[in-house]
Parts: sequence; structure tokens; C-alpha cells
Amino acid sequence: MPIKVSASILSADFGDLLKDARQAIEAGCDMLHMDVMDGHFVPNISFGAPVIASLKGKVNVPLDTHLMIENAEKYIPDFVKAGSTYILFHAEAIENPQSTIHLIKQDGCRAGMVLNPTTSEEVLKPFMKDLDYILFMSVWPGFSGQSFIPDVVPKIARFSKWCREEGLFPEIAVDGGMNAKTAPLVVEAGATLLVAGNAVFKAPNRLEAVEALKSAGKGR
Ligand code: DX5
Ligand code: ZN
Repeated sequence: MPIKVSASILSADFGDLLKDARQAIEAGCDMLHMDVMDGHFVPNISFGAPVIASLKGKVNVPLDTHLMIENAEKYIPDFVKAGSTYILFHAEAIENPQSTIHLIKQDGCRAGMVLNPTTSEEVLKPFMKDLDYILFMSVWPGFSGQSFIPDVVPKIARFSKWCREEGLFPEIAVDGGMNAKTAPLVVEAGATLLVAGNAVFKAPNRLEAVEALKSAGKGR
């Protein structure tokens, strides 16, 4: 299976967002990752639904919206309307995942759940029949450009093995500190999608950078 890359626009140039987004797609990125932060759930503020809406209909790849916010349910309809393909919520931020999944899906979006570095993959299991996308954080959420936390690797390996045994094939994504050195570690463990910010947008050659990430999956 070829490995997919979703480019986190948090590392893009917001003054020229559409141009940067299109360049990332031309360089081979399969999706665009939208990091929404509220300054409460994480210690940083990024952007909200209008920034996602500004790309709606102008790019030809799915948009995965990563909500790092409190009261996510209140804002989900806005992120659906803005054009998200996937809406990803944190297990740590939500009391009733089943109702959040329902809210996301009722308007035709796909639902995903995100785990912080120390949250056990066990919390995912009751909801797997309704989830299309699992995101394993390999940094503490809040900032781009942090170093990869290797403790996530055995967690991905255990989860992907369990999925295979259960006949489930969700997108297994990893977010934070992805680069040509760290990507093979998570791909080997079963990751199918790499979220990358700095490794794409700060690279001198984006085409080569995306190829280097994807080559983690070659020969598998
Ligand atoms: C962190 C975000 C990540 C981040 C990735 O809270 O969820 O998506 O932008 O950035 P890099 O790839 O630079 O670690
Ligand atoms: Zn993210």
C-alpha cells in the first residue's frame, strides 16, 4: 500500500496560503491537514473555520480538520460547512465520543479520533465500527516543529495488529515530527498516512521532501 501524506498548513505561509497549499499538492501530498487550536485545550491559537472555507472548492484533495479545542461539539457544524472531508476530535477533549461521531457524520463528513502521546489505544476500540481515521499524536499537540516521541511506535503496532485481526482497515495516521528518519519507524508499525508540517513546507525542495516521506513505504 502506498503511504499517503497530509500537509499541515500550520507550517505554510498564511499570506499565500492557497499558493502554498497547491504547491504541496503538486509535490505529491494527498491531503491537507488543518490544525485548529483554541488556546485552551492546547496552549496556542491557530485558526478557525474561515481559513478552511477559504480553500473549499479551490483544491482537489481531502481536507482533514484536526480539532484541538474545548467544546468541540458546539463548533463541529461550522467545520462541516467550511468543507472538511474528515473531522478529527481528541479522545481527551470529548465526554461522549459516540454522539460526537454522530454529529460529524450526520452532515456527511467522515469522523476520526485523535490520541495524545500517553493515551492508550484501548479507548478507540468501542468506536471503531464508526471511525474512518485514527490519528496518533507523536508530539504534544499545540505547535509544529517539535521532535518525534518514539513511545508512539509500539502503540501503533499494537493497534494496527488488532485492526487486522478484527478485519478493520481505518486510515492510521501519525502527526508530529514526521521526517525521512522518523517516517519509516511508524510505517513499519502500521501507519498508512503521515501528517507533516515543517518537513513539507520548510523543505528547500518540496517534491523531494514528500518523496522522502513516501519512500518509507516502498517495498512493503
Ligand atoms: C501539532 C499539530 C501538527 C503539527 C505538525 O499540534 O497537530 O499537525 O502542525 O507539524 P510538524 O510536522 O512540523 O511536527
Ligand atoms: Zn495536527
